[in-house]
Amino acid sequence: MPHTPLDTQNTTVTELMAQISGTGQDRTRGGYTRPVYSTAELDLRAWFIEQATRRGLGVEEDGNGALWAWWDLTSGERSNAVVTGSHLDSVPGGGPFDGPLGVASALVAFDELRLRPLNRTRALAMVVFPEEEGSRFGVACLGSRLMTGAIDRTKALNLRDQDGNTFADIASKNGLDVRRIGPDPALLSRIGAFVELHVEQGLGLGQLDHPVAIGGSILGHGRWKLSISGQGNHAGTTLMRDRRDPMVAAARTITAIRQIALAQPEARATVGRVQPVPGGTNVIASRVDFWLDVRHPDDAVTAAVVQRIHDSAQLLAAEEGCTLELGQESLSPTVAFDAPLTARLGRALPGAPVLDTGAGHDAGVLAGHVPSAMVFVRNPSGISHSPEEHVEDADAELGAAALADALGFLLV
Ligand code: GLV
Ligand code: MN
Ligand code: MN
Repeated sequence: MPHTPLDTQNTTVTELMAQISGTGQDRTRGGYTRPVYSTAELDLRAWFIEQATRRGLGVEEDGNGALWAWWDLTSGERSNAVVTGSHLDSVPGGGPFDGPLGVASALVAFDELRLRPLNRTRALAMVVFPEEEGSRFGVACLGSRLMTGAIDRTKALNLRDQDGNTFADIASKNGLDVRRIGPDPALLSRIGAFVELHVEQGLGLGQLDHPVAIGGSILGHGRWKLSISGQGNHAGTTLMRDRRDPMVAAARTITAIRQIALAQPEARATVGRVQPVPGGTNVIASRVDFWLDVRHPDDAVTAAVVQRIHDSAQLLAAEEGCTLELGQESLSPTVAFDAPLTARLGRALPGAPVLDTGAGHDAGVLAGHVPSAMVFVRNPSGISHSPEEHVEDADAELGAAALADALGFLLV
């Protein structure tokens, strides 16, 4: 696609991030709440489309709701394309950088590349994947999983948000043709390399005193839903000894989960979301739903940890006269990024350390299908999925420059 020089040459990552800093602020939790297809996330998509359009790029939405801005070759050839990007949705009360930093950096890297005398042999595309966090429909990286076929389309269409809306309904209300939702081998086959820039979600770069790193691997991770059912009843008239209170069994299970994970080197287990039904101060819940996130480098160990949790939860539920259901919602094995691509990034970014991460990313899903890699930008405290997530302005610019170098290296 032809492009005309526009007023974007001096745009910095910091300026782009400032443009979206008012979008999706969460006054209750702090930070940002930008679930997929919320007003906030739709506003951010519109912002991305506007930014890409200002750069002379046409934006296409694929059948799964991902946005693609193509910097085509004059031949129009799109196979073996270099693709960069990230996501604009967030966890509830998340930080500003998880996702948007990769998108803003892609735009700035594009500006930088456009100024370089590159003899490109490959097209470049910027992508924004939907529902990376899975905070609305429960399955992380839903857009990339759908594109690659890593999730069954019928299962995806039937996922429900907290209000009971199906993904099919919400996608359709937002202009997607439900018949097109699912694997997209034609689009996937165009990607020759995927490089996602992301805020680091740990202390690696802070400790190494370096602004950027190259991703080594993503820790295997999965999500499970537990439901403990008891007897809903009145808080004032039901004697303590007469209760079958699922909240008590859930609380004891959560404590047990911590002990089980502590006993397993390298395991992480989290319960970050608990939903009592019906959820009233003076109501003994009839059921408590809670969600478990388990991560470990070895998927067999993850399975064993979840089995231990299941056995323990079953026992604790029974002790309270309750019953337990446990079901897996998603599982992503440990992913090592593409070695040749990672080595090439190492040549483009001399001195950048290679760091593994415990966080999931669309790059991890794509890695099973196309050569994929990541660039991490220093986060001084390592805190993420929290309003306190932070990146210094200077590091954000260094990150975009590193991304431009990496992409420039791959494009010729
Ligand atoms: C995504 O950020 C995850 O690791 O859960
Ligand atoms: Mn995240
Ligand atoms: Mn992210």
